[in-house]
Amino acid sequence: MSVKFITIEGIDGCGKSTQSLRIAEWLEERTGCKTVRTFEPGGWPDGKTLRDFILDSKSYSAMSELLLFLADRSEHVNRVILPSLRQGFNVICERYNESTLAYQSGGHKLNFSQVKRIIRACNFPEPDIKIFLDIPPEIAVERIKSRGNKSDKFEEEGLPLLKHVSETYRRIADDEPERFIRVPCGELNEDEVCAEILSRLEAVT
Ligand code: TYD
Repeated sequence: MSVKFITIEGIDGCGKSTQSLRIAEWLEERTGCKTVRTFEPGGWPDGKTLRDFILDSKSYSAMSELLLFLADRSEHVNRVILPSLRQGFNVICERYNESTLAYQSGGHKLNFSQVKRIIRACNFPEPDIKIFLDIPPEIAVERIKSRGNKSDKFEEEGLPLLKHVSETYRRIADDEPERFIRVPCGELNEDEVCAEILSRLEAVT
């Protein structure tokens, strides 16, 4: 199986960025192919304006929030992900469709099947592998607090939101076991999580 497009998912504070960097380095060495690291929302040229608007403003509806994330993804797919894949590069992306399903349905209470249908209608390219860092929400909340950064509007909702989002991620991963690498991170340190991901990726790359 040729794995070119990988997404990395999980609740806030799960350690996506750290692992994405390590996976990108490993993948580049293993495949000899440039690996583009990217993220959502806002991972495209000029994407910061839309990212800041989505994450700072509290005044729009849940449906508008969903559509804003999809607009962001449309630009990201067309300007970064597809051009990179067409050039033969690997792409590793922090957050993608599963974030939308987990946060906008699980977290912000839109209907799960409706959100799924709307995402599917967008026809975004499907990742080869989706990594899910499954961390207990209680641990994630502590990590977010200890970072001391200004919280975005999702982080401000804290534990209740993360619990719903986490349950929805599990449901999504259970529905599609063949594409998901799910790593229960509760007891594991950063190196152990990385070793687990790489050994599972090794089996499919
Ligand atoms: P992220 O950039 O991962 O946060 P951080 O600043 O910690 O790196 O994501 C920002 C927030 O956006 C996060 O709380 C999850 C949320 N989000 C959604 O609700 N739906 C989506 O489709 C995406 C991509 C992100």
